[in-house]
Amino acid sequence: MEQNVLKQRAALAALDELVEGSVVGVGSGSTVDLFIDALATRRDRFVGAVSSSRRSTERLRAQGIHVMDLSELIASGLPAPVYVDGADEIDPWLQMIKGGGGALTREKIVAAAFERFVCIVDASKVKPVLGAFALPVDVIPMAAPLVARELVSLGGFPKLRDGFATDDGNLVLDVGGLQIQPEAARGLEAKIDAIAGVVTCGLFAARPADVVLIARPEGIERVLVGDSTG
Ligand code: A5P
Repeated sequence: MEQNVLKQRAALAALDELVEGSVVGVGSGSTVDLFIDALATRRDRFVGAVSSSRRSTERLRAQGIHVMDLSELIASGLPAPVYVDGADEIDPWLQMIKGGGGALTREKIVAAAFERFVCIVDASKVKPVLGAFALPVDVIPMAAPLVARELVSLGGFPKLRDGFATDDGNLVLDVGGLQIQPEAARGLEAKIDAIAGVVTCGLFAARPADVVLIARPEGIERVLVGDSTG
C-alpha cells in the first residue's frame, strides 16, 4: 500500500485522540500536513492550535484554524491535553528520531507544553533500533565545526545540511552511523544536548511519545508507552 495512504490513515486516526474544547498542539511534516487537513473538518470544536513550524502555521491558517502563540497558551491557562506529530523513526519504547524537516527544536518545545504526545506514523517508521535515519542536531551557526568534532568523538558521522536554516536561523548537522539501542537513547540525548553550541538534538527519549498510531495495510495499531511495538 502506498506510504501516503498510510500517512493519511494515521492522520485521520489522530482525530479520535483529541479533546474537544481544548487547544491542539501541532507538529510538522508531511504526515502532520494531512492531520491539519483532517483537523480542519472539525475546527469549530477546538479553541485553536499551537504550531511547531512556519510550515504548519501557514497550513493551519490556510485551513481556517486559529493559531495561538505558545506564550498566549501559557498565559491563558487553557487546557493543552494533546500534541500530535510525526517521526522519522520510533522504537519499541516510543522514543523517536525527529527533525527530518528541521523543526526539531520547536517541536520539542511545543510538545513539552502539552500533556500527551500522540505520534502518527506509517509502519515504515517503526524500528527496533534508532539511527538508520541520520540524527538531526540543531546548532548555533558559529559552533557547527566544534559540535561536529564532538559528535565524531561520540561515534557519529555529522554532515551539515546543505543550504538549510531552521525557523530560528540555526544550522542542522545530520549525524549518520549511530545505532541507538532503546536503553541508550536517553543518555545519548543528554550527552548531545550538553555539547556547547547544540540547541537540541532530534532524539526524543527523555520525553518519548505517550501513544503511537501506526498505520499498517491491515489497519491502525495503537501502542501506548510501556507496551511494545513488536
Ligand atoms: C519535522 O522536523 C520532523 O520532526 C517530522 O515530524 C518528521 O520528519 C516526520 O515527517 P514526515 O511526516 O514528513 O515523515
